[in-house]
Amino acid sequence: MRVRQAILASIFLSGLVLSLEVRPEEAPVHIGFLLDNLKFERWQRDSKLVQARAGELGAKITVKDAEGDDDLQLQQANQLLDAGVNVLIVVPHDADKAAAIVQAAQRKGVPVVSYDRLIKNSPASLYISFDNVQVGKLQASMVLAAVPQGNFFLLEGAPTDNNAHQFERGQKLGLEEATAGGRVTIAGEAWCRTWSRPEAYEASVAALKKTGGKISAIVAANDEIAGGAIQALGERKLAGSVPVSGQDADLAAVVRIIRGTQTMTVYKPLGPLAKRAVDAAVALARGTKPSTSENIPNGSYKVPAILLQPIAVDQKNLGATVISDGFHTAEEIKKALAPGEWEKFTSRKR
Ligand code: GAL
Repeated sequence: MRVRQAILASIFLSGLVLSLEVRPEEAPVHIGFLLDNLKFERWQRDSKLVQARAGELGAKITVKDAEGDDDLQLQQANQLLDAGVNVLIVVPHDADKAAAIVQAAQRKGVPVVSYDRLIKNSPASLYISFDNVQVGKLQASMVLAAVPQGNFFLLEGAPTDNNAHQFERGQKLGLEEATAGGRVTIAGEAWCRTWSRPEAYEASVAALKKTGGKISAIVAANDEIAGGAIQALGERKLAGSVPVSGQDADLAAVVRIIRGTQTMTVYKPLGPLAKRAVDAAVALARGTKPSTSENIPNGSYKVPAILLQPIAVDQKNLGATVISDGFHTAEEIKKALAPGEWEKFTSRKR
């Protein structure tokens, strides 16, 4: 009889221990956040927002910066997986090469959130970003509104970045009618392998030389490369008379928009992106599928996705968007301007 009781007691106790161990919802989730490159203003902001949201949810988070290096990013992913992270949030440097990260995570049963940029040909659990084709359309339409005809130069981002191809597609869709109607000619197109300003500057100098300075507009895919284009235009005293687009609402771009050397930027509210990504990552780590609005094909799989809406910003709605959201404060912008520029800008009726 005693032996039987002892056996029953030990079975009960082990069951109790087991249930404690496997009840994941108690254990703090450990998130691994893999960034492509923290040298850019935009990603510094994503990093802060993602870490803040993780903190709010009581999740542990480890952040890694690949500095634009694919091999390093894969190494960092394996380090985090070996360290026992429950979920990975990844900003891939290379959409194709990052598939190896998803495969390594899959072998460990760890879900992956493809953050802002799509990882191709691998089963990520979620892709969360903005409607990036719409980003390109907004860039084209705002530049077209400023100059409805002429020679347009397209300045694109990194070919390894799936977003860069979506921006370009959106730009061409936005210019379709004007090019079909012969009003606009695409005088050239260049891709900046590392999304960097010096590359954009070189490509713009070359395009201006090739066309004898006859460029009517530059459709640039983000603010960093818009900066390079405007530097090249500035050397030919064309800055401010040749419309230039951008993206990311970097502080330097806001200053250029106020000064009139950049026509617009595409503002992407990063708070909601970071919040929804972390909420989804914690849910996935706990075995719950987040609700998604669509499925995006990535070459081999249909990835559940959440796409947020981008906002076109120029002098007219800067206050009602970027500033009212606190993305940049009026104080911050004023400090970045020369004395009197802010007052002149805010006093002008638009
Ligand atoms: C893209 C991103 C843009 C821009 C760029 C360069 O993938 O969507 O916002 O920042 O990378 O980092």
